[in-house]
Amino acid sequence: MRFKSAGLGEKEGLRIRRMKVEDLDQVMEIERASFPTPWSRGSFEIEITRNPNAFYIVAEFEGRVVGFAGMWLTAGEGHITNIAVHPDFRRRGLGELLVLSLVQRCIAEGARGVTLEVRERNLAAQQLYRKCGFVQVGRRRHYYLDTGEDALVLYLPDLDLPEVKGELSRRWEALWDEVPRRLRAARVGD
Ligand SMILES: CC(C)(COP(=O)(O)OP(=O)(O)OC[C@H]1O[C@@H](n2cnc3c(N)ncnc32)[C@H](O)[C@@H]1OP(=O)(O)O)[C@@H](O)C(=O)NCCC(=O)NCCS
Repeated sequence: MRFKSAGLGEKEGLRIRRMKVEDLDQVMEIERASFPTPWSRGSFEIEITRNPNAFYIVAEFEGRVVGFAGMWLTAGEGHITNIAVHPDFRRRGLGELLVLSLVQRCIAEGARGVTLEVRERNLAAQQLYRKCGFVQVGRRRHYYLDTGEDALVLYLPDLDLPEVKGELSRRWEALWDEVPRRLRAARVGD
């Protein structure tokens, strides 16, 4: 990897970096393709320009934004607010790399854990988070107004424990070895 700091990195055409206003056309394209009720462009813009507790990243592959993720970091906890991968680049490990990049940032900032809400019917995302070590700690009834679905509240605990930090960092490093190759295969239509 050419550089890495607090969840950011670059290797073999794949770059994970902070989201910029100039990325928002591509981010909105992925957002609209991914959610029944997409965020507005203005919501992203406020997050990346005015919220000092927000950390938003994009995955850029060969110059194109192929995924993004964001969170708030407050009071020693991370809270993942949004994540999506372009439909043509899914199932290549990028979602996991994005989640663990946010987690790396949390670890660097001394956070103890990470929370998020996920739709009860979004099994793909639930599988992804479980693979990253999240466990269910609650349920918010009829949380999503568009479909009336419940939200499951998931939590990744113990980020202050050296063995947990070590395991998550090793997995993050391993993904940097795998994901660029798997994205190249997606590009040529494998
Ligand atoms: C959820 C999402 C970000 C996953 O991105 P991705 O790049 O495809 O995920 P990965 O390739 O890293 O998958 C990691 C693991 O997640 C799980 N997973 C991902 N997609 C899955 C699917 N469609 N069905 C079942 N499990 C799935 C698997 O366990 C997978 O590991 P495996 O490939 O070894 O089986 C992507 O499907 C997406 O953008 N969905 C729409 C937006 C969304 O739902 N965001 C989450 C909001 S809470």
